[in-house]
Amino acid sequence: MIQRTLSIIKPDATARNLDGAILAMIQEAGLRVVAMKRLHLSCEQAGGFYAVHKERPFYNDLCAFMSSGPVVVSVLEGEDAIAKYRTLMGATNPEKAEDGTIRKRFAQNIEANSVHGSDAPETAAFEIAYFFNALEIVG
Ligand code: CMP
Repeated sequence: MIQRTLSIIKPDATARNLDGAILAMIQEAGLRVVAMKRLHLSCEQAGGFYAVHKERPFYNDLCAFMSSGPVVVSVLEGEDAIAKYRTLMGATNPEKAEDGTIRKRFAQNIEANSVHGSDAPETAAFEIAYFFNALEIVG
C-alpha cells in the first residue's frame, strides 16, 4: 500500500550538515520526498508536535532540544512508507540500532537521535497536517 509518513531531520543532524546525507539514504531506500521545509521551531511548537509524550520524563528536554536549531521536515511517500522509514531510521536508542540505519550512522544519543518518523497511520496524518497543508504536498 502506498503511504505517506512525516520525517524530521533533527537539530543535532542539521548542525553537522547531515541533511543531504540523510536525504540520500531516504531516496536510496525508494522513498519519495513529496514535501519539504526547513524550520526553526519554538519550544511551544516542538511541544505541540510531541504532545503525545507530555507526561514522559524526557518531554521538557525534548522540547528544548527540538527548538535548539533548525530542523528539516518532509513528507515521504512510498510502498509501506511508515514501516520502511522506521526500519531505515533504526532503534530510537542508537546503541541498539542496526548497522546501515540512519541512527546507527549518525545519532549521538537517545535524544539527539538525528531523525524522527511517524509510527502509525493515525500519527502520520496528525504529524503531516502539523507542518503541511494540501497545496504544499506534491506527489
Ligand atoms: P522520536 O522518535 O522523535 O520520538 C520521541 C523522541 O524523544 C525520541 O525520538 C528522542 O529524540 C526523544 N527521547 C529522549 N529520551 C527518550 C527515551 N528515554 N525514550 C524515547 N524517546 C526519548
